[in-house]
Amino acid sequence: MEATEIKQVGVVGCGIMGRGIAEVTACAGYTVTISDINQDIVKDGIKAIDASLDLAVRRQKLDKEAKAAALSRIAGTCELSDFGGCDLVIEAAVEDLALKKSIFRELDKVCPQNAILATNTSCLSIIDIASATGRMDRVLGLHFFNPVPLMKLLEIVRTIAVSEETMETARAFGKSIDKSVVIAPDMPGFIVNRLLMPFLTEAVRLVESGQATKEDIDRAVMLGLNHPMGPLKLADMVGLDTACFIAEAMYEETKDDRFAPPVLLRKMVSAGRHGRKTKKGFYDYA
Ligand SMILES: NC(=O)c1ccc[n+]([C@@H]2O[C@H](COP(=O)([O-])OP(=O)(O)OC[C@H]3O[C@@H](n4cnc5c(N)ncnc54)[C@H](O)[C@@H]3O)[C@@H](O)[C@H]2O)c1
Repeated sequence: MEATEIKQVGVVGCGIMGRGIAEVTACAGYTVTISDINQDIVKDGIKAIDASLDLAVRRQKLDKEAKAAALSRIAGTCELSDFGGCDLVIEAAVEDLALKKSIFRELDKVCPQNAILATNTSCLSIIDIASATGRMDRVLGLHFFNPVPLMKLLEIVRTIAVSEETMETARAFGKSIDKSVVIAPDMPGFIVNRLLMPFLTEAVRLVESGQATKEDIDRAVMLGLNHPMGPLKLADMVGLDTACFIAEAMYEETKDDRFAPPVLLRKMVSAGRHGRKTKKGFYDYA
């Protein structure tokens, strides 16, 4: 099959990640179609991209003309059938395997035969998602980090079925949007979360055991390992519900105790202490 030349990019999901991915992609000169489940969410998403681009202009990272040009390259829709002209689609809808599979099934029908389909999933199996399509050689993970315009890293997740040609196109795409690319395995947590989750959950276990205070754990990691923030502050920032969900998914897939969410983490989630976003987690943000 002919190599894919990427000109038009589709983004499914206009939430935190979808917006960021659409923004960096449009800034790099691609034409972008972004979708969500209703017009209001799409409008809000494009408004948020506009505000983020304004910030870039104020910080002198972008001039006004480039901002206007980037924004003019983004179109919103609620229909996946509008992705028919896309060479690459990046799915960033909510983290739900059945939903992602149904989106990929639909994209497989509407996108050109040589289009590449990517998912931004944090912890689901990429090959499970790819199996909903008839083009497993053209499906891979493109795992961005939040906030997308600021975070340099892009994990390109290689499945056992993806072709080298698709990997090469994805690598070139990552470079073209000014990301630093690493190749990660289609294993729970890829690279970053595979290392991060046992670290965060071990810090929670240490608090749970009563052997060290949260303040001492965070201070020890900041001063002893030179991390900008301790693991419990970081867990509050990621969201304790999100951290628990990712740990749970990694544990489910591997049955490896290193990834099992600690009881204290589950209880904090049940109590609605989700970290910064609920103003209470390991620390108080009221
Ligand atoms: N937030 C992060 O830090 C982060 C980092 C890396 C990866 N991810 C992954 O990115 C994906 C999106 O996360 P998010 O934080 O942007 O979530 P979010 O909740 O902010 O956005 C998800 C969006 O998907 C939309 N959506 C739901 N069903 C849809 C459908 N059928 N078609 C189109 N849109 C649909 C929702 O309405 C919502 O606007 C998830 O898979 C998540 O695991 C998140």
